[in-house]
Amino acid sequence: MIFKVLTLFPEVILSATNYSILKRAQQKGLIKIEAINIREFTLDKHKRADDYPYGGGYGMVMTAQPIIDAYESIKPGRTHRVIYLTPQGKRYNQQYAEQLSKEEEIVIICGHYEGIDQRVIDMIVTDEVSIGDYVLSGGEYAALVLIDSISRLVKGVIEEKSTQEESFSTGLLEYPQYTRPFEFRGKKVPEILLCGDHEKIRKWRRYQSLLKTIKNRPDLLENFELTDEDREFLIK
Ligand code: ADE
Repeated sequence: MIFKVLTLFPEVILSATNYSILKRAQQKGLIKIEAINIREFTLDKHKRADDYPYGGGYGMVMTAQPIIDAYESIKPGRTHRVIYLTPQGKRYNQQYAEQLSKEEEIVIICGHYEGIDQRVIDMIVTDEVSIGDYVLSGGEYAALVLIDSISRLVKGVIEEKSTQEESFSTGLLEYPQYTRPFEFRGKKVPEILLCGDHEKIRKWRRYQSLLKTIKNRPDLLENFELTDEDREFLIK
């Protein structure tokens, strides 16, 4: 998987992805992250990459020329997605991450100020994506969210089993986890996790997942098919 990030702040992307799992994934050659500085492509003599909006209004808009030239310079492969990060985009979620993890190459455009010239979107963008209903100061933080969530789904980056039971992949939030010590400041680990009976533990975890989802994200249950076992838990 290759990520090519078009940004005014390449260091934000390169430094934040140089740790832990993403660092190891790059060292192993499982993912590649390139950051291309849009400003290096501007033909403006003052190196400006933004200008006032036509029609007036607050703020500045990133100009089309340096973004399109930066895009053309990276010579993207034949099959690739071009994602523009914007609060006006389609809402990102785990399913979207899974879909994107099947791509070979993803180009990400990070906006700043009041966004980018619409003609860039019309000419090269395949997906306008928002990571949530709030406004960030720049697309770099959203790009990092995409890179991290997609990379961990790339084969070999983390143990496959750990993505199978986690939140959203089952349709429910994940059950609570505990580790040693058994007792911490008077609070003990639930006894059932020490009983050694895997079926009992599985049932307890499923019940806890249901409870957590009802408490924190009842909206997830609207499109969720409860199993007979789930219904039994909930009636009790
Ligand atoms: N840029 C600014 N806010 C954003 C958001 N919520 N999602 C994606 N990109 C953004």
